[in-house]
Amino acid sequence: MEILKVEHVTKIYGSGENTVKALNDVSFTVPRGEFTAIVGESGSGKSTLLNCIGALDHPTGGKVYINNTDIFAMSEKKRTIFRRRNIGFVFQSFQLVPELNVEQNIIFPLLLDYQRPDQDAVDEILEVLGLTERRRHLPSQLSGGQQQRVAIGRALITKPMLILADEPTGNLDSRSSRDVVELLTAASRKYRQTILMITHNINLTSAADRVLHVSDGVLKDLGGTSDEKLS
Ligand SMILES: Nc1ncnc2c1ncn2[C@@H]1O[C@H](COP(=O)(O)OP(=O)(O)OP(=O)(O)O)[C@@H](O)[C@H]1O
Ligand SMILES: [Mg+2]
Repeated sequence: MEILKVEHVTKIYGSGENTVKALNDVSFTVPRGEFTAIVGESGSGKSTLLNCIGALDHPTGGKVYINNTDIFAMSEKKRTIFRRRNIGFVFQSFQLVPELNVEQNIIFPLLLDYQRPDQDAVDEILEVLGLTERRRHLPSQLSGGQQQRVAIGRALITKPMLILADEPTGNLDSRSSRDVVELLTAASRKYRQTILMITHNINLTSAADRVLHVSDGVLKDLGGTSDEKLS
């Protein structure tokens, strides 16, 4: 079953001479539980694509279906709630709330949605992420890798069907990068979550089921991750 269907999505920024065609007729589908990597040079349109899929940005044309729901056909208010319940985001810059401790940052999306956190689920996530001993620490008291693990916990706590990660390892060393990708892979297996991850690190694409390449707003499916396909 496909969890994501992107149909003829285009995104044009600006007007007149300043027009940028960031996405040019992008179409693809992703089955449930697949871990897809998105690669491509700087400025090629990767973040624009992820932001359109996550409804953080509005495509100029085309459609995005998540679990068979046309996300741009619903009202802004419904879309915000749909996004909160079904999509988890992980960004390069972590974007944690500085005043909240590790545990509070992780449960934050539930509080936004007026849901009571399940303490067992929170404990499990802290354990899986290796953050149990740091649960009362503030983000400023953590290393970069630990902060990114908190951000992953925050993306996992709502058990979203889709996780969108924009260079989640961009600020991490190679060891922490591998850890982060392993955690994401484990989540996709354990909770059958579907993951789209943008990365500049070609070494990390070997963990992915499929690699999509974006070049000048055009998407190409590189299929599986054998070396000859990437060279
Ligand atoms: N808000 C905006 N207004 C105008 N142009 C934009 C805007 N956001 C992005 N662009 C342009 O759209 C194109 C695609 O940008 P995008 O951020 O998607 O690239 P990217 O592949 O994520 O690059 P990077 O690897 O550097 O993050 C670029 O040419 C960029 O300058
Ligand atoms: Mg980007």
